[in-house]
Amino acid sequence: METPFPLRYTRPEIPVVDLDRFRAGQMTERELVEVTGAFARLGVICLRDARVTSRIQENFRRTMIGIHGASPQEQAALDGKDVGYQFGMTPPGTELPLDHSAWVATLPSEHRPLTVAGRPDLKARFMWALGVRPTNTPWPNVNTRAKIPERFAHIAGPLNTWGGCMLAAAYDIMQIISIGMGLKRCTLSRMLEGGPHILGPTGSNFATVQLGQVLAGLHYDFNAITVHGQTNIRALVCWTLDGQPFLVEVPDGCLLAQAGKSLEWVTGGRFFAGKHEVLGTPEALADAAAIVARGERPIRVSSNLFVHFATRWVMRPLGHFATAQTLLQYPPIYAGDFESVELARIKLFPSSELARGDRVPPQYRARMARLRVA
Ligand SMILES: [Fe+2]
Repeated sequence: METPFPLRYTRPEIPVVDLDRFRAGQMTERELVEVTGAFARLGVICLRDARVTSRIQENFRRTMIGIHGASPQEQAALDGKDVGYQFGMTPPGTELPLDHSAWVATLPSEHRPLTVAGRPDLKARFMWALGVRPTNTPWPNVNTRAKIPERFAHIAGPLNTWGGCMLAAAYDIMQIISIGMGLKRCTLSRMLEGGPHILGPTGSNFATVQLGQVLAGLHYDFNAITVHGQTNIRALVCWTLDGQPFLVEVPDGCLLAQAGKSLEWVTGGRFFAGKHEVLGTPEALADAAAIVARGERPIRVSSNLFVHFATRWVMRPLGHFATAQTLLQYPPIYAGDFESVELARIKLFPSSELARGDRVPPQYRARMARLRVA
């Protein structure tokens, strides 16, 4: 007898923003405000972008299937342990999602994720450092550069091309929401320059995945925004702010942007870090079966770019988002320290990095001390 799948998706209407119109200066300020409102409310927004072509995505996917489908001996040459898994392979059983049980308990049973708290993820991940990195930095592991063995030299082109395409879209949407929130157009996008952006495609062999099996437990992304392209197997479920789960299906020529914790931080909670989970959905098993029927291996490759603020920036509620309440909830912290702490919380960095969470940047110490006393 077939096992029932308990999760009931909802179908929230996700607006599509035409980035080509934005770049051509054809979007009105009112449209930008509306887009920003929808993105903040849902936690996700769809981006249509002429730079997103099926050829670039397919090159990326084939390259990643080659990596995730490589032998354990070959993958060992890409081991990322020495740099806190900020480049190379993160093997299954390494990343441990935070416990979100309290939030899950607020949802009706048919909208609850299937994650069991305390279990490390089953998926493997490959991290590819994208863009320019600072050379002299207090956060060397966060800013790890790509160093690729000769055997895998061919992967740089497809990964940089696809990653660059998604990063360009990220700059655009950051400018849109800056304007939409009444900030200067470049307030958020300039914080991305030199950021430790990482293409982080996960790999899962669906030959053995069962209905309802969780591959990446419920979590939020701690970076500024995550940009998703299409995947070959539909296994990603996101939750809106009000707890509606939906299956992510990215239309042709589009990307999906999801807000992360860093964006929540600098907007004092106007945006929120959306939660999501990767699991054996009925759609994923059907996609995998179709791949097998074509005579190929059903290896799921996600297509996601973690877009980060540069480590040197101080993250705190910006502009009119800075109030006594938001500053206490989202206190000033170097982006590099914030990222180190979040990576330690999910067991990718050593637990000694957790202490960085107490390091208020010097220029904010007196102000924060006064706020904490008041
Ligand atoms: Fe994620």
